[in-house]
Amino acid sequence: MKKKITIIGAGNVGATAAHWALARKLGDIVLLDVMEGIPQGKALDLLQSGPLDAFAGTVTGSNDYADSAGSDVVIITAGLARKPGMSRDDLLAKNVAIVRSCAETAVKHSPDCVMIVVTNPIDAMVHTAYKVSGLPKNRIIGMAGVLDSARYRTFLAEAIGVAPQDVNALVMGIHGDKMLPMVRLANVSGVPITELLSTERIEEIVKRTQMGGIEIVNHLKTGSAFYTPGLAAIEMAEAVINDTKRVLPCAAYLDGQFGISGYFLGVPVVLGEKGIEQIIEFKLTDDEKAALKQSVEAVSKQMEATGL
Ligand code: LAC
Repeated sequence: MKKKITIIGAGNVGATAAHWALARKLGDIVLLDVMEGIPQGKALDLLQSGPLDAFAGTVTGSNDYADSAGSDVVIITAGLARKPGMSRDDLLAKNVAIVRSCAETAVKHSPDCVMIVVTNPIDAMVHTAYKVSGLPKNRIIGMAGVLDSARYRTFLAEAIGVAPQDVNALVMGIHGDKMLPMVRLANVSGVPITELLSTERIEEIVKRTQMGGIEIVNHLKTGSAFYTPGLAAIEMAEAVINDTKRVLPCAAYLDGQFGISGYFLGVPVVLGEKGIEQIIEFKLTDDEKAALKQSVEAVSKQMEATGL
């Protein structure tokens, strides 16, 4: 049976995600937004690419959650985006209210969905969606690590002069300045990056990755990144829809893994039709443990600020 994906929020991230979902032929897409006309107009525009790009499936724009009923995957992108001078935390209060209402309503219409949360600050928003939706922890996933790792891989590939898809690299922890681009594990087709780049160059790339979002906000001035965030959400949705068991870094609810309990944090997970089917745990060095602890402290403050 054809799968159904609802994308809530027809802004830049949501519309880009819809585009990628159609291009990857994931199923029927519903683009939902409170703004009248925006999801309908964007969906119609996307649908008309069909003859030119052999899109399969349909895309419908709507303001009514009833149209999202029975979705296999729900992606929440609704909320305010950053402008220059704003941290992701500055968005928290407004976006808690938005994500709360989206998650509560969406789950009523799609009680068996896997929910992917993209709205910032992601680690607090995925916690919000978890608390209000009542979905089990394996079916709530935060998008961040796929985006941050893609940025890390891009910068490493550029510096080494290789194809980005041959760079394997993992970013763990919070989607914020305290994120943890793993140096020890990063490699180019199996060759450690520490053999290929100087310590100073790697440090620069780690910093640039940590500040990857704000670098784009400062260029755009009117909002934040959307092409790769939209694709990152669809990379995750595709693994769920097609039950591929891909291993992707995602914000997952930790229950003792890595010595952490009760927080959503970016870790490598196996994604399949049940959502998060496994959290891949491995031994961290003392430095990595200390860095991850800083992420936990930052996420903990965000969680408190949600009041949930
Ligand atoms: C970024 C925003 C989406 O990192 O958080 O670009």
